[in-house]
This record gives sequence, structure tokens and C-alpha cells, in this order.
Amino acid sequence: MPLNLRIPGPTPVPDEVLGELSRPMINHRGREYASILGECTEGLKRVFQTANDIIFYPSSGSGALESCIVNTLSPGDRVLGVSIGSFGKRWGEIARLFGADVTMLNFEWGQGADPGAVAEKLRAEGPFKAVLVTHNETSTGVTNDVKSLAEVIKPTGALLMVDSVSGMGAVELQTDNWQIDVVATGSQKALMLPPGLGLVSVSAQAWEAHKQAKMPRFYWDWTNCMNYQRRGENPYTPPVSLYYGLRKSLELIEQEGLQNIYRRHNEIGAYCRGAMQALGLKLFADPKYASSVVTAAYVPEGIGSKDIQKILEDKYDVVIAIGQEQLTDKIIRIGHLGWVHLEDVKACMACLRETLVELGHKVPAGATV
Ligand SMILES: Cc1ncc(COP(=O)(O)O)c(C=O)c1O
Repeated sequence: MPLNLRIPGPTPVPDEVLGELSRPMINHRGREYASILGECTEGLKRVFQTANDIIFYPSSGSGALESCIVNTLSPGDRVLGVSIGSFGKRWGEIARLFGADVTMLNFEWGQGADPGAVAEKLRAEGPFKAVLVTHNETSTGVTNDVKSLAEVIKPTGALLMVDSVSGMGAVELQTDNWQIDVVATGSQKALMLPPGLGLVSVSAQAWEAHKQAKMPRFYWDWTNCMNYQRRGENPYTPPVSLYYGLRKSLELIEQEGLQNIYRRHNEIGAYCRGAMQALGLKLFADPKYASSVVTAAYVPEGIGSKDIQKILEDKYDVVIAIGQEQLTDKIIRIGHLGWVHLEDVKACMACLRETLVELGHKVPAGATV
């Protein structure tokens, strides 16, 4: 059986993209590379829904997130970290480590950030130089209402920085219309590529902040990156193969159309939630904020998430994720983002049903997935 990779990244890579990855190397300071970089930049701007600059890093998503902090802030700057799970917590921690004065606003895991509560925090404890928000919290399967959050954050004048590592290209994010200053993502999720490219969009207000920002940076320096990118290069040796792949995946995204892609993820997300409930599992996320790219559910009483994960992988070649931190053995997480079709998730649910039965779970009578 082919591997059914149902973790929320890295995600499966389409055959057309895999083919591109094996092309021969070229000069990364030559004309052909400059043209590929140009095409990738234009394609990404359409996916990010922005006219802002896009900066490329040979890094994972966390590198892109660190770049947002060190390029816009100085030690002592006040930052509000809005956290709904493990990745929101991590981003606030990065800012704190570099010397920002970070206030965390933590929401219960499984919930989205309430715009009213964010507005109240900004009013009571502001002003903040920057507000950090997670678009899609992969650890809990929750998508924030970034548009509503932006509506309460932007009028305060703060920089709005969004971690869309697992959202970009699968869940709608209108960077310019919603006035998002900085958006960070990575290649290994909805962009249907292997890991290794970190991507950041930078607004005019973020460039202004960058001019004043005193946090130390070398590898991540936006000015250096953009000076090279403007002439079709990067400061450091880029992962050329990933750029071949990105050009192809952007072509596939263009062919399907962003709205159709969002719709496909919504349909698959709704199916996955329904199927897991039909199997007698309790969903982890508040349905109001349920993510269309990753679904988390509590495991049944007396059954460990690692046992479910092991049987699925050993017996059925289906690879799922378990929980993070305090949720490690309490939930399972199914990824359905990027190059995913309903049949893949249906197959996963059929195997999950068999696995749960084997582990002694009473699947509700007549439950079909
Ligand atoms: C929401 C979110 N933020 C940040 C990260 C970290 O990205 P990376 O593992 O590429 O460094 C991830 C990875 O899963 C993520 O899902």
C-alpha cells in the first residue's frame, strides 16, 4: 500500500513537483536562477494575496518566525503574544529570548483567540509595538479569525505579525485587505514541497519598523536579503531544487485556483470531523474555530494515542500525528492539507475504524466513514 501521510506537515509532494526536484544544478548567481526566483516571487504574492515584498530563506518555518522578531523589534519593545497552543507559545518565547518585553494572552487550547478579549487587553495594557498571532494552530486544530483580530489590533498602530506556517495556501488569508504587516510560512505544508524554504511577506509599516529595529541579526537580515533578491539572487546559497519545485507547485495552485483550494480543504475538514465523530471520538477544537487543515480528537478512555498511531503505521501504512506537550497521549491529529483528496482521508478513516476496534473501542453501531 502506498504511504498515506496524514501528519500536518511535511505533506505529500505531487509527482510533477517531485520530478522538478531532480533537475540538475544551475548557477545560483546566473540568469536562469534569477528568472525562477522572479516567477516564484510573483506566484507567492498571489498566494499571500499581497503586493508586499516576499523574503526567502533556506530555513524551516521557525527560522522565518525568528526573522520577523529580529527584523522589526529592539530589546525592551513591548510585544503582545496571542497564543492558542504550542506554536503561539513558541513565537512569544522567541521574542522574549531576543529581549522583547513580552505579554502573553493565552487562550484555552482548543479555542480560538476571542477578538473582544484581545481588544480589551490592548486597551488595558497597551500600547504594544507588535502583536503576534497564529493563523492556524497546528497543535490543536484551531484556525483563528485573523480578519476580526486585525480589526481590533490594527487601529492601535501595532505591527500585526501572523504565523501562517500551516495555513498559507490552504486557509484564506488576505494579507493586504486585512492589513497584515508580516506573514511567515514554510514550504512543507500547503505549498506541497519538502521542508526547507521559509517565506515572509513584509509591509511598508514593517519596513519602517525594520529601519529602527536593533535586535542582533546576520543570517536573517531583511535588508541584506532584499538587496540581493532585487537583482535575482539571495545572500547565501539557496536550496535551488526547492525553487524548481516551488515554481511547479505555484503553477498547480494557479491551475486549481485559490478559492477552489480553500473549498477543497473546507470539504475535507468537514468530512474528517464528521467521520471521527461517527467513530465515537470527541473532537478537540471548538467547532466554531475548527481547522480545515488538521483535525484533532480525544482518544477513547483507556486507549493511548501512541497505540493508535503505531497500529495505523505498522498495519496500514497510514501515518498520523499525536498530541504535543500536555496533549501528547490525549489526542490524535489528522493532517489534510496541501496535496490531499477526499479519498486519502476516507482511506485513513477506514483504517482508523479498524484500529479502534482492534484496541477495544466500541465503534457506534452503523457508523460508516
Ligand atoms: C503553526 C506553526 N508554526 C510554526 C511551525 C514551525 O515550523 P517548522 O517546523 O517548519 O520550523 C509549525 C510547524 O508545524 C506550525 O505548524
